Amino acid sequence: MPKITHVWSREILDSRGIPTMETALQLDDGNSAVASVPSGASTGSFEAHELRDGDVKRYLGKGVLKAVANVTTVIGPKIVGLEVANQTALDKTLIDLDGTANKEKLGANAILSVSLAVLRAASSSQRYPLYAWVAALAQQFGIPPVRLKVPTPIFNMINGGLHGAGNLDFQEFFIIPSSAVIYSRALQIGAEIYHKIKDSLARRGAIHSVGDEGGYAPNLFTNLDALSILVEASRESGFNVGNDLFLGLDVAANNFYRDGKYSIRDRSAPLDRDSFLTFYNNLNDQYHLAIMEDPLFEDDWEGWSRITANFAGKALIVGDDLLVTNPARVERGIKEKAANAILVKPNQIGTVSETLQVIKMSREAGWKIIVSHRSGETNDTSIADFAVGIGADYVKFGAPARGERVAKYNRLLAIETELAAKK
Ligand code: PGA
Ligand code: ZN
Repeated sequence: MPKITHVWSREILDSRGIPTMETALQLDDGNSAVASVPSGASTGSFEAHELRDGDVKRYLGKGVLKAVANVTTVIGPKIVGLEVANQTALDKTLIDLDGTANKEKLGANAILSVSLAVLRAASSSQRYPLYAWVAALAQQFGIPPVRLKVPTPIFNMINGGLHGAGNLDFQEFFIIPSSAVIYSRALQIGAEIYHKIKDSLARRGAIHSVGDEGGYAPNLFTNLDALSILVEASRESGFNVGNDLFLGLDVAANNFYRDGKYSIRDRSAPLDRDSFLTFYNNLNDQYHLAIMEDPLFEDDWEGWSRITANFAGKALIVGDDLLVTNPARVERGIKEKAANAILVKPNQIGTVSETLQVIKMSREAGWKIIVSHRSGETNDTSIADFAVGIGADYVKFGAPARGERVAKYNRLLAIETELAAKK
């Protein structure tokens, strides 16, 4: 059984030009692997702790040299000599070494960089494609096996909130190609519409610079205007909304919630929860959204249960900031029927094993699973393999543009070809 012989880590930059880290492992069978970690901007308060140096003389305080040192001097010596294929035991070592509930001692970034490097190194050593190794691990975790296929992509075409340079309150405006088409066709549909959206925005004189996830970041009068632009661009591309593709939102409602009220440019006065729920009903009469992520504040459990009941059978109510890929919050969400789908982001919890545990719980509850990147990314494509391996229903990797986003979408093209050849 191959064992770890060396562990390295270093500070690198993410897609926003902010430091993150990558960790490399060497095994005694000659295999090696490198993995890097992403970083969020619109983070939920209950996410695991991302350790940053706070030294304002370097990278505005955002350096990660402490997290890097935790990998090389604290974690490294404890995992050298361990069997790389035993992800569960390795992750448990990392969790125990940290010893805190939210991984604040060593940093979830430090821990995940090692957990992901272990995953990658084990797959190389076993001569498995990464997605197939993830599928094998998922089975070990008791996740029922599914026929491997590439999930349906959710494209974030217009970026608002904390990701956009424009004035929109809602964070992400989605185009979701129908799950009836194969992935390569879905990617083509997404890319064609992406370019038409630029034309639509240019005609209105709205700026069309792009936001953190590669979607356009325009100035518009209302959030609903962005949805009407998605409809217009889809039609001009020759696609039918409600048939070829669907619309969705990541509202990321935390970002405009203050003192129990939601302030959005579509309404002159702030809305309380009941009025915001009515707003969603009216919005859906018009746009029939297929997916609504984080429609309410991250700790309004009762509101979440109400909106999930309101849209049962009609839309996916997706918990991102609500659930933060955390087993305890997912357990509560299932009990209170506070969502019917989950956004899975490994860096919200910090290890591959805990992420698999959350996926198992979500699957057993009958929830749909969306595997997601972060707004600050690297060119690491492990998340694409991970999504295929666990049998995700959807992936959310941003717009079909910008290197760190298309690295993942392109990796899915390669997996699609490989899976087709195996049939
Ligand atoms: P984040 O945004 O990576 O900035 O948290 C992604 C999301 O909210 O889905
Ligand atoms: Zn989100």
